[in-house]
Amino acid sequence: MRIVLLGAPGAGKGTQCKRIVDKYGLLHLSSGDILRQQRVEGSELGKKAKSYMDSGALVPDEVIVEMMADEIKKTPRAGFVLDGFPRTVEQARELDKALAANGQKIDIVLNLKIDDNIVAQRMTGRRSCPECGAVYHTENLKPKVEAICDNDGTELIQRPDDGPEVVANRLQTYHLQTEPVVDYYKNNSTVYDIDANKDADQTTALVFEKLDALVKA
Ligand code: AP5
Repeated sequence: MRIVLLGAPGAGKGTQCKRIVDKYGLLHLSSGDILRQQRVEGSELGKKAKSYMDSGALVPDEVIVEMMADEIKKTPRAGFVLDGFPRTVEQARELDKALAANGQKIDIVLNLKIDDNIVAQRMTGRRSCPECGAVYHTENLKPKVEAICDNDGTELIQRPDDGPEVVANRLQTYHLQTEPVVDYYKNNSTVYDIDANKDADQTTALVFEKLDALVKA
């Protein structure tokens, strides 16, 4: 299965991807997580990405496309779920070209739809594990012990781009540059809209319903 998960910041892409990976055994490729890792390592790529990420803008297409093409090449046969990529029509075209060169294509696109007014609440309460990448929320998805990761006991952190001003910019960037990707896929692939305003478990049930149907087909 080759899956693309689309959606605004805070729609729950990372949260749902972790559950998809647990159930279907796919590789989770998050462009945001890969960029954050590059920043921690202090690589040239990470340094280049910093100013874009901190302001809520997109990292240039050519940088992202090369980075993700390298990651996809490492993919095992079971397939992958893409989180945060592609995020522009140009990235989507380049991804399709790279897959087609290997006789592959995207099987399904899940578009997590969330109202803008819910995004802010989700972002300010988000806490992440710097060790394993698990995502929590101070109100909606609490860890068992406050501020500590259930998986490895690491202290949870708040992402620096989750402040109100940067979130507003990220949302604007999403509407301008990423929403057109949904239309691109509607012309090229199978797209399902998923109501991501619901709680995490209800959203997961909708996601699994679509993926189970694909597995059975
Ligand atoms: P990235 O890391 O991809 O951020 P994003 O797309 O803005 O998405 P988020 O990770 O913020 O949200 P999410 O949808 O994964 O939500 P989550 O599951 O965490 O990108 C960061 C930056 O990197 C970009 O701004 C850009 O600069 C750069 N970048 C990345 N990819 C790029 C690309 N392809 N091209 C160019 N630049 C790129 O959930 C959010 C919170 O809500 C959590 O606390 C969670 O616990 C909670 N929650 C989740 N689901 C629910 C629910 N259903 N109900 C209640 N709470 C929920």
